[in-house]
Amino acid sequence: MKKIAIFASGTGTNAENIVRYFANDEKIKVVLVLSNNQKAGVHARVNALGVPSFVFTREEFSEGTPIIDKLSEYEVDFIVLAGFMCFVSEPLQKAYSDRIVNIHPSLLPKFGGKGMYGIHVHEAVIKSGEKESGITIHYINEHYDEGTIIFQASCPVLPNDTPEDLAARVHALEYEYYPKVIEREMVGD
Ligand code: GAR
Repeated sequence: MKKIAIFASGTGTNAENIVRYFANDEKIKVVLVLSNNQKAGVHARVNALGVPSFVFTREEFSEGTPIIDKLSEYEVDFIVLAGFMCFVSEPLQKAYSDRIVNIHPSLLPKFGGKGMYGIHVHEAVIKSGEKESGITIHYINEHYDEGTIIFQASCPVLPNDTPEDLAARVHALEYEYYPKVIEREMVGD
């Protein structure tokens, strides 16, 4: 059994979707969720499905060891970032080199980088008059949103879209593809 830890900062609909997708899987299991935000909706969502969640401080995150110890305790093989709004610290990147994936709600390299997260991405896409947006799944590296891209899917931006309309269309792509791409990366097709 390969084990996933999900890092999430907010509502956690992707985290919940991934937990549900692997709930009865024989090869992959989500064993814990970690968050920088005690008030994040993700805790209730995953706890209701039997997955424990933990909160860490900024200091613990940048130092790395307390997080790495927790991941070792749960024998985590692979890290999935799902709406995680912090830059992954160097000790953690080193410990899980090439085993941390992120999802970004745009077609990178467009609309990536610092300050580009969640609804801000969709606002920027609409403001710039793009006809198309989508999702990017990528391994992380030492630069925000610049690691190796492993999957992209697109959707239209419609003339009267609000950022919330576009967010909903992009979320639908995330729910459909993120678990499948994680599965492919962890155990092959
Ligand atoms: C998702 O759309 C995800 O792609 C985005 O935050 C949202 C979280 O939604 N991530 C980023 O912007 C990372 N830069 P959720 O909490 O409902 O899963």
